[in-house]
Amino acid sequence: MGSSDFVILTLFLVLVSNSWAATSQSVQEKFYFCIALNSELSIPFSTAFYAPDNASFSSILQSSAQNLRYLMPSVPKPQLIFTPLTENHVQAAVQCSKEAGTQLRIRSGGHDYEGLSYMSELEKPFIIVDLSKLRSVHVDIQDNSAWVQAGATVGELYYRISQKSKTHGFPAGLCTSLGIGGHITGGAYGSMMRKYGLGADNVVDARIVDASGRILDRESMGEDLFWAIRGGGGASFGIILAWKVRLVPVPAIVTVFTVPKSLEQGATKILHRWQQVVDKLDEDLFIRVIILNADGAQKGEKTVQTLSQALFLGRADRLLQIMEGSFPELGLTQKDCTEMSWIQSVMYIGGYPGNTPPEVLLQGKSLFKDYFKAKSDFIKEPIPETGLEGLWKRLLEEESPLMIWTPYGGMMSKISESEIPFPHRKGVIFKIQYLSRWDDDKPESVTKHMEWMRRLYNYMAPYASMFPREAYVNYRDLDLGVNKNGTSFIEASAWGTRYFKDNFNRLVRIKTKFDPDNFFRHEQSIPTLPLMNRKRGKRLIH
Ligand SMILES: Cc1cc2nc3c(=O)[nH]c(=O)nc-3n(C[C@H](O)[C@H](O)[C@H](O)COP(=O)(O)OP(=O)(O)OC[C@H]3O[C@@H](n4cnc5c(N)ncnc54)[C@H](O)[C@@H]3O)c2cc1C
Ligand SMILES: *[C@@H]1O[C@H](CO)[C@@H](O)[C@H](O)[C@H]1NC(C)=O
Ligand SMILES: *[C@@H]1O[C@H](CO)[C@@H](O)[C@H](O)[C@H]1NC(C)=O
Repeated sequence: MGSSDFVILTLFLVLVSNSWAATSQSVQEKFYFCIALNSELSIPFSTAFYAPDNASFSSILQSSAQNLRYLMPSVPKPQLIFTPLTENHVQAAVQCSKEAGTQLRIRSGGHDYEGLSYMSELEKPFIIVDLSKLRSVHVDIQDNSAWVQAGATVGELYYRISQKSKTHGFPAGLCTSLGIGGHITGGAYGSMMRKYGLGADNVVDARIVDASGRILDRESMGEDLFWAIRGGGGASFGIILAWKVRLVPVPAIVTVFTVPKSLEQGATKILHRWQQVVDKLDEDLFIRVIILNADGAQKGEKTVQTLSQALFLGRADRLLQIMEGSFPELGLTQKDCTEMSWIQSVMYIGGYPGNTPPEVLLQGKSLFKDYFKAKSDFIKEPIPETGLEGLWKRLLEEESPLMIWTPYGGMMSKISESEIPFPHRKGVIFKIQYLSRWDDDKPESVTKHMEWMRRLYNYMAPYASMFPREAYVNYRDLDLGVNKNGTSFIEASAWGTRYFKDNFNRLVRIKTKFDPDNFFRHEQSIPTLPLMNRKRGKRLIH
């Protein structure tokens, strides 16, 4: 501990003895002093603590929290937010949370659908370890790779790559404010998935802090743990400090389009056709469909609008040929197509207005925030037109529904289900994400929209994958089940097999080996095997 830190610590002691005197030694104090007394921390740490009485506490808590539903007054708040400045601080956070008797929530980009990176219904007290100050990105074009710290957003990574090369990219999420730390733990898909697979398929190394506070890389953690962290879900195995990712080639010029079709313009028939062709298209072509309510032709009328939005890894003339041969029903024309650089396509698909300079990505800010509930489905047989019509009826009942249909096939079906924990591969035509969004904090609104979403999900059951009805872990859905204190792995397998299919069992064994005391836990963390089953579990691992 440096002498300036000592002065700050003394000052802090005076401060806390005033403001926190009520409890003899609060969790905040225990945690703070534990970190302060960890003499290996050479870098000043005293500016990294936000207690609830600090003027910046709320703004730091809200900073990256994407689902406003989990900031409502009734939702439990942390005792402290710790924003580590170095890797050592993250190690200390693990050790000191044990000493202080508190649970950790780990936050990178704050996009967890159920707020699990910044709130906890299960644990009291809890502290947030917010990695937003660990966000360096080192791109090495010669090595075709980049080391990215957990707190960086995918937009920052894309931007840094584009500054070094116009013909390299990385195949992760479409929304540029996603934190790379949490995002890759669940898979990380984006507009190049049909060509290159997921972000997690393109990770070559990682640095993590494990449950005993050690820093491990791929070599020291071993292939089991390295397998588990690439898709087994966030915050079950350790704290990711950084990912080393493999860059992929992109053409200097790519092409994008967005073609709108309302029901009156034949959207149903075109979408029916889309389902038959979309997973078989050229791998350079990714056409997703965004579906939402819109005003109809007549005043006061509502319709359903579909937006077919594409990235093509090539020029417009070749794209038009491919579309003419494989999907003429969409009626794509030259004037629908825009050629641009890959980084501009990232901005386009990320929803930025045209001509926004890509430097805006360095701010790592999300474009919008709202109250929302979401769910996901994987579709293996085209949904018949009658099924689509029932779906439109339900969408039109809701104020601000949104669906995003994401095509699979290509590289996604060439990677085996057990290569990494993310299992939704061969046989999937597309994934549906269902969303309902609203903008007021009335508890009745929460109930109303959650109920609509659950009815919609029931309606879709016959069209979705079955046994299990698969779901994307990065679209976390607590309706699928939550860990209670002492939840057994059998109960947890109800949601675990939906997210991971058979990989769930291997995840449980790896969890049991590397975090036997279940230090890293949350509402949907991978459970450990009960003590009596562990012998067998161990044997299966070795
Ligand atoms: C608007 C929006 C758009 C999205 N678009 C896409 C998309 O295009 N493609 C896609 O695949 N997904 C998408 N997602 C889902 C997204 O991948 C997940 O929400 C992902 O978990 C976000 O990571 P994060 O770091 O931003 O979130 P966080 O909320 O910080 O973390 C998510 C989970 O991971 C844990 N975690 C966070 N950091 C770490 C760490 N360093 N080490 C270990 N565990 C950690 C958290 O505790 C939490 O459980 C989107 C989500 C939103 C809200
Ligand atoms: C709030 O916390 C920050 C970070 O630790 C610190 O720099 C600042 O002085 C604190 N402000 C107040 C009013 O305590
Ligand atoms: C959870 O269970 C453990 C033992 O299984 C117990 O020590 C602990 O107090 C329980 N916590 C809560 C919040 O019930």
